[in-house]
Amino acid sequence: MRTRTEVAARAAYVLRGNDRGGLTVAAPRLYPHMWSWDAAFVAIGLARLSASRALAELETLFAAQWRTGMVPHIVFSPDAPPYEPGPDRWACRDVCPDAPPAPATSGILQPPVHALAVRRILDAVRIADAAEQRDVVGRIRALWPALLAWHRYLVARRDPDGRGLLTIYHGWESGMDNSPRWDGPYAGVIPSPQFTPFRRSDVHALAGAATGGGAAGSAAQRPTDADYRRYQWLVEELRRAGYDDARVQNSLDFLVADVFASAIFAAAGEELATVGDELGLEGVDELLGHAARFRRGVLGTTDERGFAADLDLRRDAFLRMDTIAGFAPLLCGGLEPARQRRLLELLASPAWCGHPGLAHAVPPSTSPSAPAFDPVRYWRGPQWPPMNWLLIWGLERCGEPDAAYRMREATLDQLADGVFAEYYHPFTGEPFGGRPQSWSAAVALDLLAR
Ligand code: SER
Repeated sequence: MRTRTEVAARAAYVLRGNDRGGLTVAAPRLYPHMWSWDAAFVAIGLARLSASRALAELETLFAAQWRTGMVPHIVFSPDAPPYEPGPDRWACRDVCPDAPPAPATSGILQPPVHALAVRRILDAVRIADAAEQRDVVGRIRALWPALLAWHRYLVARRDPDGRGLLTIYHGWESGMDNSPRWDGPYAGVIPSPQFTPFRRSDVHALAGAATGGGAAGSAAQRPTDADYRRYQWLVEELRRAGYDDARVQNSLDFLVADVFASAIFAAAGEELATVGDELGLEGVDELLGHAARFRRGVLGTTDERGFAADLDLRRDAFLRMDTIAGFAPLLCGGLEPARQRRLLELLASPAWCGHPGLAHAVPPSTSPSAPAFDPVRYWRGPQWPPMNWLLIWGLERCGEPDAAYRMREATLDQLADGVFAEYYHPFTGEPFGGRPQSWSAAVALDLLAR
């Protein structure tokens, strides 16, 4: 175990090592491009080193924004090793006039964490010298129309019925690919018998790296081949629909309302509004309106404990699963005090952070008491540092500093191995997946600087 000073130094070293100049790869072998929500977390961490460099990360991402306002989930870098599905498979600019001519991107999105990064960058630059302040504030102003367009896209195209919940087209859009949240909806995704799945680059990249997983090996840390067949088939369906929101919403097998991303979006609206207010920019009331609408949407899915649920839009049914997404109200706030207390009790209970077997008291992605729990397989059990970061941040916003402090300490203890893995085995503490994963290093940097 390293001291916290050593962890901070190593985290900075990792982010520098993964920096390709204005673009930080999510993980050098496994994810050799820029991913949207990874980039937002990276910017949050980089803000502790250089506000200017942190903002450059967002500028690179938003330079790939679609004409609709959508920010794509992958921005491909031309010099990276092969990755599937790559630009040819997505074929965005061939089938959709809204995709940018360059750079090549995927055709879907990821949760809108970016406003949180902008807020942190503006906070960080307040202590920089006057020249950097002028530069960064000027660049935030320049980025503002793109940020507003992104939020407006989400409201107009991803919540067309005004539920206050974001519609997603793929488990990848939630960032939680194989979470039990999506087991039901994926059961309705039936690839055509003529569809030939392509080679998975993830398992090959992991197999070539020194990863844990014991006898189970690296494939056990990833979604299964059966899962991937469906993921790949959905890409095919999206491409055939030309990535057109209306066509996709009419035709796609998978259509769900993501409560966790919606809670992030509610909070993001508020964060962005504070930036707009401070810099005298347009759209502040509109952003606050988004925040109120999506907070209502999230709270409308909760049970008597304040635990939230996704919505299967194809079957018009709530998806009540014991996954970390249920704690969404702690991100957007707004629960009445008694239910917030019950939700915190649940979070601290043996079903979650109070489980006696945990190596570190941070929430597993799926509750160890859920039938679908698997301590190894990606979003079905392992602990994910950026999810801890979101909950720590949310707990602070909800007026729960003690719970936030405990989770921060446990997260930093976990990251003191200095590996900065993508995710961790909840019982053994073994590091899994991409390593070093930029977002884990970024989370460490930010939490250590508080
Ligand atoms: N989660 C990745 C993606 O969204 C794949 O592992 O592309």
